[in-house]
Amino acid sequence: MANVVVVGAQWGDEGKGKIVDWLSERADVIARFQGGHNAGHTLVIDGVTYKLSLLPSGIVREGKLSVIGNGVVLDPWALMAEIERLAELGVSVTPENLMIAENTPLILPIHGELDRAREIQNSLAKIGTTGRGIGPAYEDKVGRRVVRVADLADAPTLDLRLDRLMTHHNALRSGLGLGPIDREALKAQLLEIAPKVLPFAAPVWKHLTEARRAGRRILFEGAQGALLDVDFGTYPFVTSSNTTAGMAASGTGLGPTAIDFVLGIVKAYTTRVGEGPFPTELFDEDGTRLGERGHEFGTVTGRKRRCGWFDAVLVRQTCATSGVSGIALTKLDVLDGFEELKICTGYELDGQPYDYLPTAADLQGRIKPVYETHEGWQESTAGARSWADLPAAAIKYVRRIEELIQCPVALLSTSPERDDTILVTDPFAD
Ligand code: GDP
Ligand code: IMO
Ligand code: MG
Repeated sequence: MANVVVVGAQWGDEGKGKIVDWLSERADVIARFQGGHNAGHTLVIDGVTYKLSLLPSGIVREGKLSVIGNGVVLDPWALMAEIERLAELGVSVTPENLMIAENTPLILPIHGELDRAREIQNSLAKIGTTGRGIGPAYEDKVGRRVVRVADLADAPTLDLRLDRLMTHHNALRSGLGLGPIDREALKAQLLEIAPKVLPFAAPVWKHLTEARRAGRRILFEGAQGALLDVDFGTYPFVTSSNTTAGMAASGTGLGPTAIDFVLGIVKAYTTRVGEGPFPTELFDEDGTRLGERGHEFGTVTGRKRRCGWFDAVLVRQTCATSGVSGIALTKLDVLDGFEELKICTGYELDGQPYDYLPTAADLQGRIKPVYETHEGWQESTAGARSWADLPAAAIKYVRRIEELIQCPVALLSTSPERDDTILVTDPFAD
């Protein structure tokens, strides 16, 4: 029996969805534990593309239980819309295959409004959020005034929650030039959506504990990436949750002893959406080429992703902060055909070498990458399903990454398709 946590080891969009979908064949339960519909996880199965934001990537497989844990912030309207979109693709989501923790905080329309209003007001220092209300909802959670799934079942409790929320938000809104909240309209919206959400509500911690005791395999699906972690990321250009592996425990209600293997998902180069420091960012034709070959456009917002060379310093750091046991290296095929490839092996600032990304924002913004250059390969790796299919220069590149990040490759991905995946070490093996 082994439980596996999948986390992004860069700035998100590493290919978590593809890998979680592939691994979920071996799992019984697939659980999201943080983030919300800021995530965009893409699965391609026999040419059909599924884009998931809130639902765990295991939802497309029959006979698996998908779980939304308490660490997630849940927009119930976005959830219902996603369930409808999946129904059109022939995937049915019912309380049989989806369970939502009763203590999950809700994202309300006022959170999205606040998120977007702040970004406009801070236009010179904006974060580049997805505008989905993620930050404001997490603020209300730790501020002890959020509406949670269980509150939807009881109108008097909902009234109490809304009272606290109104006092706080109306003061904030008037400062931002937004009108006061129409409390009755909001309450009516919540009471209308309640019967659609409540059938999925359950004490997730209890079900997961029982599943674990019964020897079922749990796969935890992280969203975003370790460099967007609210503590360890490039603060303040981060998301508002802990995206590192430790969150899998507190975001579902299982203790850290439930985690047997942490799989870090790592893109063979680097991308980032939104604002913030990015030491290996490219502004030349190599960057454009990575973006074009990798189809680097955001799944959620359609924004162009910034692209750069592989940064081994950052991935070594995130493998440490998430306790990564092995990585899944994705999008190796995007590097096909480059004459030369660069890997960042260290940083330099004011004549000082750094073997990690310092915390101070000023240093993060000014730090310069130190590169080593590797020979590229002209053969295609796209769709390769075994090591034997990889050119020698590609193997050398992968081996050098393992060495620099001090972590082995457990899986290798060579196309968006589910089965174009090379297994080196099974994360679920005992
Ligand atoms: P996630 O947020 O980590 O799940 O990643 P996204 O789905 O946002 O972005 C990853 C993109 O790369 C998606 O369009 C995937 O279909 C695609 N992808 C995943 N793995 C590979 C791969 O090995 N090669 C190529 N070319 N594309 C991949
Ligand atoms: P997946 O799960 C990439 C980024 C946003 C912004 C910052 C804060 O698909 O990898 P937020 O709306 O969360 O407050 O935005 O975080 N961001 C992501 N970038 N992939 C994601 O998710 C992201 N989710 C949020 O672009 O810079
Ligand atoms: Mg994504």
